[in-house]
Amino acid sequence: MQIAIDGPAGSGKSTIAKLVANRLGFIYCDTGAMYRTATVMAQRLGLDYGDEAAIMAHLEPLEITFKPTADGQLVFMDGVDVTLAIREPEATNNVSQVSALPAVRANMVARQREIAAKHNIVMDGRDIGTTVLPDADLKIFMVASVAERAKRRYKENLVKGIDTPLAVLAHEIEERDRKDSTRAVSPLREAADAVRIDSSAMTIDEEVAAILKLVQEKRQPR
Ligand code: DC
Repeated sequence: MQIAIDGPAGSGKSTIAKLVANRLGFIYCDTGAMYRTATVMAQRLGLDYGDEAAIMAHLEPLEITFKPTADGQLVFMDGVDVTLAIREPEATNNVSQVSALPAVRANMVARQREIAAKHNIVMDGRDIGTTVLPDADLKIFMVASVAERAKRRYKENLVKGIDTPLAVLAHEIEERDRKDSTRAVSPLREAADAVRIDSSAMTIDEEVAAILKLVQEKRQPR
């Protein structure tokens, strides 16, 4: 079974996707973390974030792997732990540019399909329901107000020791929404057959329950 969860930055996708995957015993694939890892790779190699040829030369052979732990999922780049680095402002502020490169997207989409082919999966991102897994059994499109999303990212960041002011986060979220929605290749877009969930006024438990109910309905159609 494939569950696609898409939505803008900070809509709560990854928190919800992880919990839903846990409850169902499915694996969870955070595609944003993959684009972020490509960005950290470019940063560490001193590559220009728009230099598609140079980025691709290093990205093709790069191994990106996930390791689930009790405290969350760790992300590795050729065996090096980049879990924290991919959430730093340098990666966050440049990932839209790297993820807009068509060859980077093609490479990531191929990797994501390969992972999805082997497992029952919950995959979250921007283009999962529209491009990566167009035949997913269930497609969710999660939205939330900018103010609510900035507040959530602020709290998430504090736990990680990152202290960016709320107003800056709100501005970054708006900017990223704009870039992600207007890029030429697979922009952030709701799939025609997606179920839209507005999480602004919902608790995490309510969101998870709503999705599990939809999964149940897919498994036992009335
Ligand atoms: O979900 P996130 O904030 O970690 O995603 C980081 C960036 O990666 C986001 O700005 C857009 C890009 N992205 C994408 O283009 N396609 C995806 N499937 C997932 C993320």
